Amino acid sequence: MENTVAQTYVMPRIGEKAPEFTAVTTQGTINFPADYKGSWVILFSHPADFTPVCTSEFMTFATMEKQFNEANTKLVGLSVDGLYSHIAWLRTIKEKIEYKGMKDVEVTFPLIEDITMEVASKYGMIQPGESNTKAVRAVFVIDPKGIIRTIIYYPLSMGRNFAELYRVILALQTADEFNVATPADWMPGDDVIVPTAGSCGVAKQRMESKDEMHCYDWFFCTKKLDKETVLKKVLKK
Ligand code: BEZ
Repeated sequence: MENTVAQTYVMPRIGEKAPEFTAVTTQGTINFPADYKGSWVILFSHPADFTPVCTSEFMTFATMEKQFNEANTKLVGLSVDGLYSHIAWLRTIKEKIEYKGMKDVEVTFPLIEDITMEVASKYGMIQPGESNTKAVRAVFVIDPKGIIRTIIYYPLSMGRNFAELYRVILALQTADEFNVATPADWMPGDDVIVPTAGSCGVAKQRMESKDEMHCYDWFFCTKKLDKETVLKKVLKK
């Protein structure tokens, strides 16, 4: 039965509208993505409540939530556990777990209960080669218009790098705001890539230009974009 449900849906892809759903969460019912219009959202799944890797992830994400919110980004978690399991696990985290200097951690972002696996199946989070009964660690970054902009999947055994997820948010917003692309390992303050010149004339001009642009070849030009300018735009600071 689980496999039948999982096979009913096509995996969502980057550039497509985020599949719609209504779900019960630890913060009440949500209509997704409609309730998040105007915000970036990270919709992420974890395999199971009361498991160690997931606990380390939730403590980290909850501790960083303010930082994500300042970048106009909301967090929404999901697992195929029920609501009472979610509530009990989050209470245990707050009351009992101290990990890497994090303690008394309250998870205030919604955690979806998905016992039917309906949402997990819609988002391709059930990957039977890894598990038929648990969601893998999926990350969907959805923009303020409800379009999927980044998808990352991790296996059950590997905790995510949340600094990287924050970098993804900053890089996507920087690309949108400044009409640029971001090179390997880009961090705010690093040079950004300008769109490829549409004609040979423009490319030649760029190669010879003495302004802030630097061309490595006709197809690969960068320019400076200082950290303050990026953060001012993205974090409105
Ligand atoms: C964990 O979060 O620790 C975990 C969950 C499912 C499978 C393996 C590890």
